[in-house]
Amino acid sequence: MARLALAAAILGLGNGVLGALQSCGQAQYDPSQYVCWDNQFLCPVTSGEGLSNCAGACYSKFMYTCTNNVLALLPPVDTPFTLTVDNPNIPIHGKPVTAAGQHWLLNGQTSSYCPSQVGSACPPGDTTVIGANGGSAGMSVMVPGGQQVYLDPYWNVGYTQAHSAYIPPGSVTTGLAAYQGGGFINLNGNGWGWAACPPRASGGGGPGWNLVAKNATNADGLGECVGVNLKVNSLPSGTVGAWQYT
Ligand SMILES: *[C@@H]1O[C@H](CO)[C@@H](O)[C@H](O)[C@H]1NC(C)=O
Repeated sequence: MARLALAAAILGLGNGVLGALQSCGQAQYDPSQYVCWDNQFLCPVTSGEGLSNCAGACYSKFMYTCTNNVLALLPPVDTPFTLTVDNPNIPIHGKPVTAAGQHWLLNGQTSSYCPSQVGSACPPGDTTVIGANGGSAGMSVMVPGGQQVYLDPYWNVGYTQAHSAYIPPGSVTTGLAAYQGGGFINLNGNGWGWAACPPRASGGGGPGWNLVAKNATNADGLGECVGVNLKVNSLPSGTVGAWQYT
């Protein structure tokens, strides 16, 4: 407690642009950086989420639950789901993760294909539906062989082309977990979370924001990007989003 209080006090003194400080017990804190629990515990705000308090431990509701003062992982999602961006501080809060060009974007247009022989038997293909199981994820599609999700060598999120198992060398296919009532979490690279990167100014409305998985080495280079959570929105069992995403 003493250490947190000191950290908050230093933060308050060191930064002239901070808003009005508030009190948490003896400590002063900036409510844009911390939340105060029980007038006693300070938890940081990360990716726009004021972390919750479980008997003095700070945790994210996108991954954990606190029952009788004990932290536990949320249960894994066992149905298909969509994802939405979660960070109330940015304009794409609540907007969907969208698949296009073998790549996940934020607030883009879902891009899919339905063969003419399949026709009306195809799902609508206008929303991006995902499935996760045992640490890997895939697009929720009808096409035989499916479409696997991976972190590409730039730690952007990609997915395989229909009828192809090709994944760029250096990609990561494991450590992707989706939690019921929680978020889609990248467990690779020690929990640095996700970043949303605005479309380049030249894009003129652009193809949506890019999604990047942060880690110890790339986090510094993501200065124009903002930390976000990816909220899991569970769908009924068996929901298929498209014949295939393109
Ligand atoms: C972090 O991400 C970068 C791509 O942005 C990648 O080159 C690097 O290998 C990743 N670091 C780790 C530890 O996986």
